[in-house]
Amino acid sequence: MVANDSNKFQAIISHAKEYGFVFQSSEIYDGLSAVYDYGPWGSELKKNIREAWWNAMTRMHDNIVGIDTAIFMHPTTWKASGHVDNFSDPMIDNKDSKKRYRVDHLIEASADVLVKEGKETEAEQLVQKMESLLAENDFAGLKQMIDEHKIKCSVSNTCNWTEVRQFNLMFSTQVGSVAEDATEIYLRPETAQGIFVNFLNVQKTARMKIPFGIAQVGKAFRNEIVARQFIFRMREFEQMEMQFFIRPGTQKEWYAYWKEERMKWHTSLGFPAENYRYHDHVKLAHYADAAVDIEFAFPIGWKEVEGIHSRTDFDLKSHQQYSGKKLQYFDPEINQNYVPFVIETSIGLDRMFLLTLCHAYQEEKWNKEDGSEDSRVVLKIPAKLAPIKLAILPLLKKEGLPEIAKEIMATCRNEFYCFYEEKDTIGKRYRRMDALGTPFCITIDHQTKEDQTVTIRYRDTMKQERIPIDGLAQFIKGKI
Ligand code: GAP
Repeated sequence: MVANDSNKFQAIISHAKEYGFVFQSSEIYDGLSAVYDYGPWGSELKKNIREAWWNAMTRMHDNIVGIDTAIFMHPTTWKASGHVDNFSDPMIDNKDSKKRYRVDHLIEASADVLVKEGKETEAEQLVQKMESLLAENDFAGLKQMIDEHKIKCSVSNTCNWTEVRQFNLMFSTQVGSVAEDATEIYLRPETAQGIFVNFLNVQKTARMKIPFGIAQVGKAFRNEIVARQFIFRMREFEQMEMQFFIRPGTQKEWYAYWKEERMKWHTSLGFPAENYRYHDHVKLAHYADAAVDIEFAFPIGWKEVEGIHSRTDFDLKSHQQYSGKKLQYFDPEINQNYVPFVIETSIGLDRMFLLTLCHAYQEEKWNKEDGSEDSRVVLKIPAKLAPIKLAILPLLKKEGLPEIAKEIMATCRNEFYCFYEEKDTIGKRYRRMDALGTPFCITIDHQTKEDQTVTIRYRDTMKQERIPIDGLAQFIKGKI
């Protein structure tokens, strides 16, 4: 069993690598910090989460459509969105170690130490004070706080700090063939702006009436300074965002609606409600009049997995101003033109992936009938999201069993992801499938030849029963 949560997190990271879920990017060159690659089972799991979100948003809502916009956008986009001027974090450098910290992370880490020492009230006060200083952009106050609390750098162990400074998180690159003509453009730090600049294109071509939403999944890039905790905070990641366009004045009710609707999505996937909570923002982003995080109890603590933001008409108005093009909607019900307000739901795909792994990863031990101990590592991934749905395992590599197994494979692979395996003992194969999170295994044995039944083994309970081959695919689909 894992000894504590930090050990559990390390165990999950090792498991993710060993079983082909997540690899460090460019590992043979010693890796690239905060950039990761997804292996065979990781990319399947990621695809299933992406699809679950996409279908819940577009297929299950008549008034939401999806788009897929470019990563590169006109540079003025980011001036209009406020990212050039505001998308920065207050940072502080330790003069001895030269290590740079995000101020809020540095203070939060110090509060964590106080909690461990049993000084919860002090820790709470520290975080509250930090939040109010951040809300006021009071950098001198933050620096004073770090000095007063004698917060140390974890590398140099000194309190020798620079002033607090802002640091922009956008990556930039050049377009154009000749250096002198090249234009600096940014790699998008959020997918949302691709939706805003296409607001009218989509509204007109898809003939959408307010209220309506535009959904998109895609890569985003941020030059995160404190890049640690595995795929929790990456420099290249994927977002699943939806902008819901509404009549001005209705933002409170739609904000409440999406707050609840998004929580329902999480629990409908099979993740326990008690592992979630809301966290209202004290410091609002430059575009929002209300914002809340959906937080999950990760082994590294309660952390944000999704944000719901009431973005007002900030983005459309700003793009209207910078582009000189009208971004308005004529509402026939009230006979008025207006710039719509927006409620945004924004979730990190990689973070949802991490949430899934953290929820699923379990180390189990039990006593067998003969009194000896047995154990396994199992990923109890909700069946709908599991990379492999069904493992098809002939008991022996001979006597016609592989042939029957391959026939079953040919039928079932059209319906869902199946995996055929004939190597190793059946016990070892079950353990491997547990480690990959495969919810169902079937074994083809000699009895199969007589009565056309197979043994199905359930991952979570390890219970086994015989079921007919006929109707097997339907049976599994029903369970998924
Ligand atoms: N368009 C609004 C927006 O981008 P955000 O709170 O900055 O809001 C939304 O990001 C979500 O994207 C977060 O809740 C998180 O799940 C994910 N996310 C943000 N930064 C990330 C990073 N560096 N690595 C992985 N996921 C990240």
